[in-house]
Amino acid sequence: MLVFPDQDITDEQQLAFTRQFGELENYRTGGHIRRRADSRLAPGIADFSNLDKDGGIISAEDRVWFFKLGDRLWHSDSSFRPVPARYSLLSGRVLPSWGANTEFADMRAAYDALDARTKAEVEDIVCLHSLIYSRQAIGFTDLSEDELASFAPVRQRLVRTHPVTGRKSLFLSSHAGAIEGWTVPEARMFLRDLTEHATQREFVYSHQWRPFDLVMWDNRTTMHRARRFDRNEVRDVRRTTLAGDVITIEQDAAAE
Ligand SMILES: [Fe+2]
Repeated sequence: MLVFPDQDITDEQQLAFTRQFGELENYRTGGHIRRRADSRLAPGIADFSNLDKDGGIISAEDRVWFFKLGDRLWHSDSSFRPVPARYSLLSGRVLPSWGANTEFADMRAAYDALDARTKAEVEDIVCLHSLIYSRQAIGFTDLSEDELASFAPVRQRLVRTHPVTGRKSLFLSSHAGAIEGWTVPEARMFLRDLTEHATQREFVYSHQWRPFDLVMWDNRTTMHRARRFDRNEVRDVRRTTLAGDVITIEQDAAAE
């Protein structure tokens, strides 16, 4: 992950900078939470603030807020989409006076630190990822039929190989809620164990935001999570996201 301090940029500048690295992620494919008409920001900019479209703080009882709370679990952006995101760029415009750090875990270091037996065990595992699982984890299960259909689980390999460096990493995320061929309890326990391993302090950097930091990360090799803040204070952070180009379960075929 990279931090570019003092970037007092507009949404247009953020979009233009992001496009230097490739195609923006297309949000039309699954994972809809807020209707476009309810959005405060222009297409292409994802609103990770605690504000509604009129600029007021979202109510604690609003289900949009429940979805946002789930971002405080360790995850990789869009791992619930068939082609998960490559880079995310988060611009801090207004930050609360306390808390709200973003933490990053290095999933290459986490993979390297596994013992040989576990490395062999995870090598060919395919996980199922969905927003349903990550929201279930915080007790938010009040999803409509449309949402359940739009959040249908997708298959992702647990071990990813970076296409440029060839380095392996664990592709974990709180969106992962099942392993193909495993019972759910066994899968959940294993994923929880791996997540605990991968998020030990030695693998984690905690970013304390300053206004106008632009933070950029590679979702293929990191997990991240948001940290608590006073919900009565404004946190206005805006994300642009670069589309991935690999279906993870096909990565080996693509690499050869
Ligand atoms: Fe995220």
